[in-house]
This record gives sequence, structure tokens and C-alpha cells, in this order.
Amino acid sequence: MSSPKPAPPVNVLVIGSINMDVLTPLRRLPEPGETIHVEDITLVPGGKGANTAVAAARQGATVRFIGCVGDDAFGKQLRSSLEDDHIDCRLIRTSTRGTGTAVILLDRATGQNAIMVGPGANDEVLLPKDDEVFKWADIVLLQLETPLSVNIEAAVRAREFDVPVILDPAPAQADLPDALLKSVTITSPNESELSLLTGKQVDNIDAAEAAARLLLDRGCQQIVVKLGEKGALWITHEQAHHVAAPVIEAIDTTAAGDAFTGTLGVGLAAGLDMPTAMKRACQVGALTCTQLGAQPSIPDLKALSRFKEAMRVY
Ligand code: RIB
Repeated sequence: MSSPKPAPPVNVLVIGSINMDVLTPLRRLPEPGETIHVEDITLVPGGKGANTAVAAARQGATVRFIGCVGDDAFGKQLRSSLEDDHIDCRLIRTSTRGTGTAVILLDRATGQNAIMVGPGANDEVLLPKDDEVFKWADIVLLQLETPLSVNIEAAVRAREFDVPVILDPAPAQADLPDALLKSVTITSPNESELSLLTGKQVDNIDAAEAAARLLLDRGCQQIVVKLGEKGALWITHEQAHHVAAPVIEAIDTTAAGDAFTGTLGVGLAAGLDMPTAMKRACQVGALTCTQLGAQPSIPDLKALSRFKEAMRVY
């Protein structure tokens, strides 16, 4: 079997959050007033923006990150962990607010999670005045753990230089301004985010297509819906295209969506057609679910190659 060819070098700009994740594996939630023992609680590098950047870097892209951490131990540790992935951190500011922190309750039975985020320094992300980084980028990746005003400005400035933008509208928000949806090239929600954005129930592929078409009516250009184990769905005004995901046993779904978007961005910037880029993004998302934690579970190209060989998916 041929191993996946590394993508040609592409420049990816990620603007987003950096969190320390407090990963808490549970068999059940405690009752009010009850103390329970859980498996070891661990600190894991996370944050939707940072996870997306790590996924892009592990797919072979050159990545620059715009973010903000606190002047504290978590901030130093997370910056250094991004640098270990060869991510350019010179545009990460340091704030007097604490580094973003997320408490992740992980259901050991299903691999599903519930997340509580204290944004801290992520609320103080600022874009550079200079446009150099937007001119440098082949693609810009945004999510919603940083201020909306920053995302809107980033999307508008990227568009001035014809740089495509993918918006991952996570965490879910009901009332995203049309100014943002119209400015980005691709909006990539998961089912619950799509449901909240449109007010429609989304629990199967047909429902996802119908809801995504409502977003097209609001001015979105293209939608890629992340459907978890059901794969992903690409919708434009002209067509709909579904891609299946490999079957895996999920032990922790944390960061699967971020890994999907980072991989999708690299694939598209490298010139892959959308179905091929989505297929690779589904494989990376699936593999991310087979390990515990956010960034430690995101595969690089070698791990992806081994996975595809073992799973006989191509
Ligand atoms: O998408 C997963 C991420 O959401 C976690 O790493 C956590 O930090 C929260 O931001």
C-alpha cells in the first residue's frame, strides 16, 4: 500500500484559543454534595485554536498562531508545547489575565465529553495592525473561543488578500452575525452547532443538508458539516457530497473536530479537491478519538499512514 504523500508546504494562519485542559475521566457524575474518586485527573494542552494549529502542523503545514496566554505557568507551558510542534508563536500575546482553562468531563463508557471553559486571556486576543501575516497565509482558520469582533476583522482582512477562511463555529452560538458568516469561505459546524445556528434538529444526513441550506440562504458560501462517526457533508448552492468516516472505537472525542478542521484547511490549501480533503480530515478526526486528551491524541502524517494501513482505508 502506498503511504499518504505529505501535503506540499502550505502556510496556515490560525487565530484562536489556547487552554490548559483539566481532563477528568468519569464513570458517573457526582450527586450535589457528593465526593467521588475518579481516574487520575491530568493537565493536557488544549484549546480549539491551539488544537487546530497542532493538527495543521502535524499535517506538514507551516503554521503561525495569533492568540493570548496569561503570564503564568500554564501560559509558558502551552507556548512551549506549541513551539515543540514548530508553530510560530511570535504573535501570541501575554496578558495579565490567567491562561484559558477548560475542565473536561470525559464519560469513560462512551468517549463523549462535556466541557466548561474559562476563557481568561483568550478574551484579549488582538490582531496585528500590519497585514503581513494575512498576505503570508494560504488559508486562515477561525473558531469561536476568541472575541467575535476579532474573528470578523480577521475574515474581512483575509478576504482583502483573497485568502480563504474556514470558520469552525465552536463552541456553539445561536446568534452569529451574518457579517461573519458572509465573510468566510467555508463554515464547518458539527451537528449540534448546526442545530443551534439554524434552530433545526440535526441528527441525520438529510437533516444536516436541509439545515445547511438555511445557512447558505443567510449568505454562507460553502458548508462542511462534521457528522462524527457518520463522516462529513459538503453543501454548496450547486451540490451536496457526503464522505464516510472510518469505523473506530472512540475513547475520547475531545479535539476531533479541531483536528478535522486543521487537516481540512491544510488539504485545501495544498490543492486537494474538497472530497479528498474531507476524507483525510475524517480519518484524522477518527484517529484523534482513539487516544485520551486533546493535543496528545492528534496524529501526524506517520501515525495517519499507520492507521490507514491497519484499517485498510485509503
Ligand atoms: O475542542 C476541544 C477543546 O475545547 C478542548 O481542548 C478545550 O480546551 C475546549 O476549548
